[in-house]
Amino acid sequence: MSVLLVEDDATIAIVITTALEAEGFDVVRCDSIAARDRLLQERRFKALVTDVMLTDGDGIETIGTVRALAPDMPVIILSAQNTLDTAVRASDTGAFEYFPKPFDIDELARTVRQAVGSASARGGGEDEAPAVGLPLVGRSAPMQVVYRMITRVLRNDLTVLVLGESGTGKELVAEAIHQLGHRKDGPFVAVNTAAIPAELIESELFGHEKGAFTGAVARHIGKFEQAGGGTLFLDEIGDMPMQAQTRLLRALQSGTVRRVGGREEVRVDVRIVAATNRDLEPMIAVGTFREDLFYRLNVVPITLPALRERADDIPALARHFLTLAAAEGLPRRQLSDDGAALLARQPWRGNVRELRNFIYRLALLSREDSIDSETIAGLIAQTRRSEGDADGAGIDTAVEHWWSSGRPPSGQVYDAALAAFERPLFIAALRETSGNQLRAAQLLGINRNTLRKRLHDLAIDPQESLRRS
Ligand SMILES: Nc1ncnc2c1ncn2[C@@H]1O[C@H](COP(=O)(O)OP(=O)(O)OP(=O)(O)O)[C@@H](O)[C@H]1O
Ligand SMILES: [Mg+2]
Repeated sequence: MSVLLVEDDATIAIVITTALEAEGFDVVRCDSIAARDRLLQERRFKALVTDVMLTDGDGIETIGTVRALAPDMPVIILSAQNTLDTAVRASDTGAFEYFPKPFDIDELARTVRQAVGSASARGGGEDEAPAVGLPLVGRSAPMQVVYRMITRVLRNDLTVLVLGESGTGKELVAEAIHQLGHRKDGPFVAVNTAAIPAELIESELFGHEKGAFTGAVARHIGKFEQAGGGTLFLDEIGDMPMQAQTRLLRALQSGTVRRVGGREEVRVDVRIVAATNRDLEPMIAVGTFREDLFYRLNVVPITLPALRERADDIPALARHFLTLAAAEGLPRRQLSDDGAALLARQPWRGNVRELRNFIYRLALLSREDSIDSETIAGLIAQTRRSEGDADGAGIDTAVEHWWSSGRPPSGQVYDAALAAFERPLFIAALRETSGNQLRAAQLLGINRNTLRKRLHDLAIDPQESLRRS
């Protein structure tokens, strides 16, 4: 089941090869017209996937040779010259399909499978196999670095640590590593270590025996064992409580787990992909993240760039989300070029997730089939207003800043945030009432005893706060 790929861009070639291999093809690759013709003389291929501009010639102009050597072989043409002319020339050759770059790798893999005949692609039978491929959209230079790193971990079980701000696609990368890698037939099990109460983490990860603790009414198999033969995705790893970190480290070192309340060490066969949006190094410095665990996890780091660092990808992502929105039943909309350009200039602090939500809202609210910059500017202004109204903009920014500059460990966030917010609030109220706690409580609209207790908890001295002003 061999496909011949003629592509001189090594990175694109790797991505295509990986996607086609995931579809069950052997890929033979070369990077010139001369090599192509030599290979076609030597053996038969089920399909040809070829770039147009090659160092020694034009893949379309020389298609005659291909037809002569392999008359019935389907040809799929890829091109970076996204002109009408190339598209017409490609279709004149009778090519099975033409893909202007950038193209959806999934769609390419699907097309090759169709071209070859779906029944034979996987040795018969499975013609409705789910399409797998690289689900990540975006071809900017920073994303090429990410793709290259992904391709390097597909044929091994090295531990991967995916880093990047919230909403940059870390989970998607973890899924891609699993789907494209050699464990794809095994399970992909994701655990959000921040979402599990601290006292249940060990039982979640390693399982427990019946009667191990109050409420353990039956044996429970943990995520490590569930992921056997596949991939275990440990998400939000920076929020894991200390004790669980120690247990996790031990499991990683020994390759075995012990269920809570169990005696036996169970050998586990998992590939670990971990992710966090937190900066682990300062956490190591203050002792909230174990350094030895960090080195265990950080074997292959993959850092996702913030969306503002790859603004080139924004138009493609926006159009991708419009397509997804339409597939989910929202009105089908097009994005005008000036609209795409305006989107590309926005800061997107919530990264791809924020862009995605914005596009869905646009699809829903826009009255025109084509979304232009005016519609987008209107929605941006409206969003800002609703987020920033009631003088809330300053607080939003402050909370964001507080959040990203080392918020406290999981389980303590709400109390710490409230304390951080109450302190300046109470001081302002006391200042306005010259330190009179009764009037300050009335101004705030809270009970005087509540105020007194909170001032005590927060160690705020009413007189001191007046002097400071
Ligand atoms: N390159 C991409 N192409 C297409 N969709 C993307 C891409 N990157 C992210 N997305 C989409 O954006 C959303 C957020 O991505 P994801 O959940 O992977 O982010 P994350 O980095 O894990 O965020 P968090 O740190 O908040 O958990 C998802 O809907 C995901 O499918
Ligand atoms: Mg995530």
